[in-house]
Amino acid sequence: MTTNTQTTHSHWSSRFAFILAATGSAVGLGNIWKFPYITGENGGGAFVVVYLACVLLIGIPIMIAETMLGRRGQRNPIETMEMLTEEAQADKNWHYLGWMGVIAGVLILSYYSVIAGWASAYVLKAFTGNFFDADATAIQTLFENFVASPMQLIFWHSLFMSATMWIVARGVNNGLEKSVRFLIPSLFVLLILLVGYAMTTDSYQRGLDFMFNLDFSKLTRTSVLTAMGHAFFTLSLGMGAIMVYGAYLPKNVSIAKTAYLVAAADTVVALLAGVAIFPLVFEHGLHPASGAGLIFQTLPIAFGNMTGGWFIGILFFVLLVFAALSSSISLIEPAVAWLVENKNFSREKACVWTGLGTWFLGLGTVFSFNIWKDVLFFERTIFQLLDYITSNLMLPIGGFCIAVFAGWIMKREHTESELEMPCKPSYTLWRALIRYVAPASIFLVFLHVIGVL
Ligand code: PFF
Repeated sequence: MTTNTQTTHSHWSSRFAFILAATGSAVGLGNIWKFPYITGENGGGAFVVVYLACVLLIGIPIMIAETMLGRRGQRNPIETMEMLTEEAQADKNWHYLGWMGVIAGVLILSYYSVIAGWASAYVLKAFTGNFFDADATAIQTLFENFVASPMQLIFWHSLFMSATMWIVARGVNNGLEKSVRFLIPSLFVLLILLVGYAMTTDSYQRGLDFMFNLDFSKLTRTSVLTAMGHAFFTLSLGMGAIMVYGAYLPKNVSIAKTAYLVAAADTVVALLAGVAIFPLVFEHGLHPASGAGLIFQTLPIAFGNMTGGWFIGILFFVLLVFAALSSSISLIEPAVAWLVENKNFSREKACVWTGLGTWFLGLGTVFSFNIWKDVLFFERTIFQLLDYITSNLMLPIGGFCIAVFAGWIMKREHTESELEMPCKPSYTLWRALIRYVAPASIFLVFLHVIGVL
């Protein structure tokens, strides 16, 4: 980042740097860990199609809108919303949008860090040869014993959380963004390799059929909401993460083009992960709906049985941890930026406090896999409840408000000049999507889940 003296912020040095940061935020556990397991839980193909439709019709227009809000506001999400509300002479209640984002980020990071801790632990397990020649039962037992131990989960959760807060405190995001430059391509290559391995199994076609055969009868009311919520989660939308990054974006960069690129990269990574995993699920008699442990119970079987699997396994989990890190820093950045810019905290102090709070909340997720696994609220464990509230409610509601704000509250001249789209039709299309299609779709999905539709 280079420092710009006219604003309180430093700026990305180029459009490419922003693309790297935004892709780093978007590509993470959501693509490789969450997408396959929720696809498995929600019956496959039809769910995938709803998710893709949500990315196209809701996700991309909102990504453009959220980046634009950030760039116009030039501050953390809370102050950006304050400034833009004033500029548009709108109701002060719009300020709460920034607040909701900060809270959603902290809540998501609390469980994200626990799962990223699992990935970190699996680097060590891969290294010490735990997967060598292992069959499905051995791998499953390994996973079950691991999550049954609160102490182990707390250890890895603490480690991951400390790494995140250290990076955010030192402001070395820059280094991490640079590492995204090789991280994402390497992840692509590894995933393609794993797809190659999946092709050698007898269940490859069955895996593909599961992911792409459309059987809409498998969709429940909640699955539609989950697919939409995941579009927000995976693109890091609806909570100010992309807004913060947008604030660092130089004025002359095309927001729309960068949004297409980020969304495309994100989607391809998720689809590749699915295609690599489902054949293994069927090949080894596992259940697609096995839940949050799915990748940890499938991919190690491949690593244990393929040539070079020891090295590939280590590399895969290392890359996954890095992908999670570049997402987790964007989850906490809105809260830290607000404490620094608004409450005059030093960056270090802001990181210590947000880090400690988030770590503590994360204990709820840790215990929901062992000592509290039978403690249910609305038939969900603490982890499932947190995930439901943030991905399925807070992010879509945040996205809805962003769409309404960008489409209806901000002045047309402002959005038009900020977006500077190359041709008029593309601006008109975006405006139609952000004013009508995106908010209406989100609203209809909510009506559907409560049974009105
Ligand atoms: N997009 C990230 C992932 O798919 O892993 C998760 C995430 C990051 C969600 C940042 C929301 C966010 F603001």
